[in-house]
Amino acid sequence: MGRHERIAELVGLDRPGLEIADLGTGPGRIVRALLRSATANGTEPKRVHAVDSASSLDDDVLNDARVRSLLADLEEPLPFAEASLDRVISLNVAEHVADPLEHLAECHRVLRPGGLLVLAHSDWDTALFASSDDALTRLLVDRFVSTVPGFAERADGFMGRKLLSLATRSPFETVTVDTWADPHRRFDQGSVSWKVAMGVLAATKDDPELAARAVTWVEGLAALAAQGRFLFTVTDVALVLRRPE
Ligand SMILES: C[S@@+](CC[C@H](N)C(=O)[O-])C[C@H]1O[C@@H](n2cnc3c(N)ncnc32)[C@H](O)[C@@H]1O
Repeated sequence: MGRHERIAELVGLDRPGLEIADLGTGPGRIVRALLRSATANGTEPKRVHAVDSASSLDDDVLNDARVRSLLADLEEPLPFAEASLDRVISLNVAEHVADPLEHLAECHRVLRPGGLLVLAHSDWDTALFASSDDALTRLLVDRFVSTVPGFAERADGFMGRKLLSLATRSPFETVTVDTWADPHRRFDQGSVSWKVAMGVLAATKDDPELAARAVTWVEGLAALAAQGRFLFTVTDVALVLRRPE
């Protein structure tokens, strides 16, 4: 089971007719996993609101009648009435918002009493790459987590481990705390390991000497993968939080 399927399970579709929002949905992988699980279990949601600042939903999700695509800035109040949703999901979004506690406060506002927030984040500093140069890998992962990627205004490579502290300072009660690290053995273009490696390359671009070493490092990862000796993983942290009744 992958990250998005695990999150869909934590959402707890325990009855049909739920109103759900996936914040910072990206291509909609969670939405797809949720709908698949709902169909399998006979717990069809009333609506899944797929919220993002940019429209990058995959076509199959966008064209699903159960999905409503909403373009909105998560720095603004959420485009939902108070106490109007049963479930809210926020995966790998908290590091990009200016005030993660305010993000939680908005999630709390729009959830009905008893409603659940699944707040989850990869902790990028835990990125594990099998490589032939451990010291260089450490250096590159350090550079990666301390660099804001070009597509974002801000980032925090340590956000996963900070979620619980954030939750305890929010009005939510904590229901469960989970962590996992899925193994990835492939290094194909577009795979999660490749995307993080591309993030590493981008993070070194202002340092020509390190950038050259990073290119060689990436070639080494591809060679390891071709020999079946590659491994990548990153720890995900996922909290289920409840708005008290
Ligand atoms: C790392 S992606 C996570 C995508 C998805 N949740 C997943 O994990 O598969 C972060 C997403 O948050 C969105 N995002 C970041 N800041 C945002 C903001 N202020 N308002 C709306 N969306 C935002 C980005 O556009 C992007 O799609």
